[in-house]
Amino acid sequence: MAAATVKTLWLLHGVNLDMLGLRDTAHYGVLTLPELEAYVVGRAAARGFETRCHQTNHEGELVEKIHEIVREGADAVIVNPGAWTHYSYALRDALEMVAAPIAEVHLSAIEGREEWRRRSVIADLAAVRVSGKGPEGYADAVAALADLIARKERE
Ligand code: DQA
Repeated sequence: MAAATVKTLWLLHGVNLDMLGLRDTAHYGVLTLPELEAYVVGRAAARGFETRCHQTNHEGELVEKIHEIVREGADAVIVNPGAWTHYSYALRDALEMVAAPIAEVHLSAIEGREEWRRRSVIADLAAVRVSGKGPEGYADAVAALADLIARKERE
C-alpha cells in the first residue's frame, strides 16, 4: 500500500468568531479562537491533514481567501462563516468554485435558534454539516472529510 500523503485542510472562520471566549458562552463555549484552532489542528493532524487557519471580519477578505484556495487547491475545507452563513450570496458564490469537499460547522445548534439563523445559504454546497456540538463538531467534520476523501481515493 502506498504511504498516505499529507493533505491540506483549510479552517476558515468568519465574522465575530475572533471573539470566541468573550461571546455568549452558553451558545459558543469557552474556548478562544486560537484554542479552538489548536484543537482542530491536532485532530486534523491525527487524520493526516496539515491545517491552515484563517479568520476575518471582512466579507471580501474571506471571499479572496477562498479565491486563493480555488487557485492553489486544497484537499478539504472547514468553514464556519458566522452570521454570513445566513445571507452571504457572495460567500456562497465563492465556495461554489471550491473543488475540495467542504464541511460547514457551527458551534451552536442553529436549527433551534432564531428563525433567521435556521437558514444557511451554503448548506447545499457542504458535503458535511455539523452544528450544536461545540468544538467536537469540528472533530466530527475532520473525521467525516477524511473518510470521504479515503472513500473517493478507493473508487
Ligand atoms: C455560528 C452561528 C451563527 O448564527 C452566528 O452568527 C455565529 C456563530 C456558530 O458557530 O454557532 O457567529 O456560526
